[in-house]
Amino acid sequence: MNRLFFGDNLEVLKRIESWSVDLVYLDPPFNSKETYNVLYRSPIGGDAQVRAFDDTWSWEDGASKALASLSKDDIDAFNVLESMMRFLGTSDIMAYLAMMAVRLVELKRVLKPNGSMYLHCDPTACHYLKVLLDAIFGGNGFVNHITWKRSHAHSDGAQGSRHFGRISDTILFYARSPSRTWNVQYTPYSQEYIDRDYRRVDHSGRRYRLDNIQGPGGAAKGNPFYEVMGVSRHWRYSQERMAKLVTEGRIIQTRPGAVPQIIRYLDEMPGVPAQEIWTDIPIINNRSKEMLGYPTQKPLALLERIIQTSSNKGDVVLDPFCGCGTAIEASERLDRQWIGIDVAYPAIQVIQDRLKRLPAAKYELTGIPYDELSARMLAEQDPFTFQQWAVGRCRGRSGGKGADKGIDGVIVFQTARASYGRAVVSVKAGKHINPGMVRDLVGVTHRENADAGIFVCLNEPTREMRTEAHSAGRVQLPGGDRPKIQIVTVKDLIAGPELGITTALDVIGAASAARDEARRQTKAKKRPTPGQLRSEPELPPMPLRGGKKSRDEVPLDLEKPVIMNRRTRSKA
Ligand SMILES: C[S@@+](CC[C@H](N)C(=O)[O-])C[C@H]1O[C@@H](n2cnc3c(N)ncnc32)[C@H](O)[C@@H]1O
Repeated sequence: MNRLFFGDNLEVLKRIESWSVDLVYLDPPFNSKETYNVLYRSPIGGDAQVRAFDDTWSWEDGASKALASLSKDDIDAFNVLESMMRFLGTSDIMAYLAMMAVRLVELKRVLKPNGSMYLHCDPTACHYLKVLLDAIFGGNGFVNHITWKRSHAHSDGAQGSRHFGRISDTILFYARSPSRTWNVQYTPYSQEYIDRDYRRVDHSGRRYRLDNIQGPGGAAKGNPFYEVMGVSRHWRYSQERMAKLVTEGRIIQTRPGAVPQIIRYLDEMPGVPAQEIWTDIPIINNRSKEMLGYPTQKPLALLERIIQTSSNKGDVVLDPFCGCGTAIEASERLDRQWIGIDVAYPAIQVIQDRLKRLPAAKYELTGIPYDELSARMLAEQDPFTFQQWAVGRCRGRSGGKGADKGIDGVIVFQTARASYGRAVVSVKAGKHINPGMVRDLVGVTHRENADAGIFVCLNEPTREMRTEAHSAGRVQLPGGDRPKIQIVTVKDLIAGPELGITTALDVIGAASAARDEARRQTKAKKRPTPGQLRSEPELPPMPLRGGKKSRDEVPLDLEKPVIMNRRTRSKA
């Protein structure tokens, strides 16, 4: 059964059985110190952003706890990390490596003996991760260091920069054993190779080349000796097979007496076995059909290559940092089973939307509260995830951990064609709430100059809380006249809160709108064809003013057009 988990992958991985997964692909945040946003669109047009995830790590995020647990689970990985720590100290990169190490140990544990792991990373931490993976998988685990050239010449080498353009990602490929699943993938031949080796074209237009059919090693290698088209040699094929090939017209002699050769048609050849430098898969950009608006989205072709190489139909593919679900969609399309995990609620929303386009996709969603009880349990066990979920249910963007001065999230909504409103969200995951908290939100809404404030709590508010909210007055929202401070309970969150704000998270819709816009712009930039130019309307008369008149300058007749198109000229 396919499974999609909302939550921290470390917690989820601990619940996955050992030796149960055939292939792991992971594309963790790279410690780029970026905040990644998801684009979304309101139903009445216009784009806005939801914060999906932060790519920033600090030692306080539980790195020492991770190190301590590693000392029990994988002593080699622990020793490697400890040595790195002597050099890196308790820096952000060290925190990132500690966070990754505990997860990588779990990921190796769940891999089957013939399983493989592909870790997608960038040059910032790739060298450290490689050493770490060597420790976790042992010396023989390393298979390939894949370079994915994700873009062409790049503005990364902008003016004043003193480095080569950074245009590639690294994918580290490790396996549990040499008997890993392996299906060779092929890439198309280069035009240069085709032009050089497939110069011949038959009567039906098929390109082909001639290949040697003599048995390598002659008699010593057991190749049969017989005569073909008057030439006796040790041949690669049995006499029966050769006779069949001759009848099919696949064996030819270029001139009488020449050694016969076999015809190899280009359209029957598989291509070049894929190498470890991948230059044929373009990055997702605004104009890609696949673009969903999720930051860091990887191309399906990349995942398809990995999944086809290292798994078979029916196998289990796990992506513990699944983002907008590229590995999930690729697995689904290739008839693999899949497990996806992501800690960001917007990612789960995008995946759910994405999978709606694949009607055959069946999966179980875990971690998203589906009733009041599970929402309360989430609030108790993991208040931050509850907060993310609650803000997401209100169609807002989460403020991240330790959110700002009483604001856990912000909802942006459109009020008119080019104007936006803002509601601030305060989430109280605890059982004990009081009117003072509502009063605080009234103050924050005022201070932030927001149009409205949404107070999320577990239980029905008390009369005092309602009074406090009521005192803030009312406001005109796109959905009509509403209290300026609205109180939302877990029950409302499950039902889908109706806040009078018509903003909807529609990443897929926004992506297609962005694509259309990009296409429109490209089209607009295209140089007009001569035909288009000819059919363009005449330019209006252009009044020319200014400058010093030269003595013999003939004054322009301003009533006549200065530039004429051909039609006008021929009429004239
Ligand atoms: C680089 S993106 C993955 C993009 C993905 N390959 C795709 O094609 O969409 C990294 C993802 O890891 C998620 N993430 C970060 N920390 C996580 C954690 N501890 N557990 C689960 N997911 C996490 C982020 O929310 C983000 O969606």
